[in-house]
Amino acid sequence: MTRPIAIIGAMDEEITGLREHMQIEAEYKQAGLVFYEGQLAAKPIVLVRCGVGKVNASICTQILADRYQPAAIINSGAAGGIHPNVDIGHIAISTTVLHHDFDTTALGFQPGSIPFMDSSLFLADTHLVQLTQAASENVFGAACTHTGLVVSGDQFISSAEQKQRIGQQFDALCAEMEGAAVAQAAHLNDIPFVIIRVISDRADASAPENFAAFLQSVLPGLTRVVETVVEQA
Ligand code: ADE
Repeated sequence: MTRPIAIIGAMDEEITGLREHMQIEAEYKQAGLVFYEGQLAAKPIVLVRCGVGKVNASICTQILADRYQPAAIINSGAAGGIHPNVDIGHIAISTTVLHHDFDTTALGFQPGSIPFMDSSLFLADTHLVQLTQAASENVFGAACTHTGLVVSGDQFISSAEQKQRIGQQFDALCAEMEGAAVAQAAHLNDIPFVIIRVISDRADASAPENFAAFLQSVLPGLTRVVETVVEQA
């Protein structure tokens, strides 16, 4: 059996477009999650809404690994822009991912470092990154397509202080709430992954308002990008 590509979104809004475009053949339920099994762009996929935050994302990714041994994992959704060039409506593609809220600096470890793991900076699959970059440049244009570090934490970033701290500690494109957990679980299970995020807000005091205002309008372009990546992977 061909191993499927797994696609994870955190919220309903982040999987609805893909669910509408896929042919659903079966549903599997575990841990309060619904795994939609079927085809997208004539490729076998499994699509799931993991819920918000890193614990939900970790549990979901491990179930995917155990049940489907996916050929690749794509985590797609929205994010807050951290880098000054990364604005609302742009796309951020992970080359690397880390937890911005993992803090054992009091013990002498670097910010974001997970003690005693072989790596805390998770490397996305270069082929998936290249495919995503090409697809995004087609849909959004090169000026709105960014590759680099995506950081995650169990926080919705919504103040200048939080944004500044993350920007100073890490050279991050954007912040979101699941990617590093997906990346860590994918790394531990030897599964290639990429995190693909569309920017819904600037991760500052205007973020709650912008997130609500722009989420629905920025997601359809992301759906097109993910569909193209699945088609070409
Ligand atoms: N997802 C979208 N916007 C975000 C933000 N500002 N912080 C964390 N996750 C987000």
